[in-house]
Amino acid sequence: MPGERNDPIQRVGDWLSTARRVAVLTGAGVSAESGLPTFRGAGSGWAGFNDASLASPDGFTANPDRVWQWHEGLRARVAEVTPNAAHRALAELGRRLGARGGRLTLITQNIDGLHQRAGSEGVLELHGSLLRARCMACRQRIAMGIDVPITRTAPACGGCGQPLRPDVVWFGEALPAETLDQAVESAADCELFLSVGTSAVVYPAAGLIDLALRSGARTVEINPQPTAYTPRLAASIRGPAGDILARLIEPCRPPHPA
Ligand code: OAD
Repeated sequence: MPGERNDPIQRVGDWLSTARRVAVLTGAGVSAESGLPTFRGAGSGWAGFNDASLASPDGFTANPDRVWQWHEGLRARVAEVTPNAAHRALAELGRRLGARGGRLTLITQNIDGLHQRAGSEGVLELHGSLLRARCMACRQRIAMGIDVPITRTAPACGGCGQPLRPDVVWFGEALPAETLDQAVESAADCELFLSVGTSAVVYPAAGLIDLALRSGARTVEINPQPTAYTPRLAASIRGPAGDILARLIEPCRPPHPA
């Protein structure tokens, strides 16, 4: 567009500094700089999610303690790491947008809780969280924060006594409906949509990018690698999310000359 800067970081930074409704979709790449492996990267510790005996309602019913223990291993791993510059930049962006009467909707596919630990509020967790457990019988939920000691057996529900399961979305399960509705609404209604650190191959999460494109939002990707969406986006910034997001929200960015 006329008057826009050539450097994608400058250009997207300008968009960010004026947009009021921003939606961000994050994936495993946003936690890579914290030391967590991505889903499809080499040596992924998440591979158990492809094993129905570890990550499905039937697997849980067959052996609740085995499934619980495997997820507890992941929770222990998450407890060892800390939010990185990408999580912090998104939390800061949320505060800045709020302060000028705008809104950041942060939608994540991650189940590691790092956005919240960095200070983001109202995070839409499409795939649930390792830091919560829930009862499949009476639907009660409990927090399993990083301070809660790791256990080898699935705890009993305080309401009905059934074993609690990790509150994550497994193989073949539907996404939490209300969370997905809110994500859809924000993708369809935003001015600027950022897809950060996701391979964008898992639906319905990746479909949010289509929604943003269809609604006419400026749609941007931040990822060291291209994705199938790259050719359709207003800008693609190649690089690690922490570095790029920190540069995008630099407080001293010179204003775009009118
Ligand atoms: P993937 O492992 O598929 O993709 C991670 C993306 O992050 C890749 O595109 C990498 O290029 C990129 N990446 C790597 N390092 C990065 C960095 N430092 N900064 C930015 N990007 C980086 O993970 P997701 O797209 O999150 O679902 O996977 C989506 C879903 O697939 C997961 O939520 C999970 C899985 O099935 C469930 O478990 C329900």
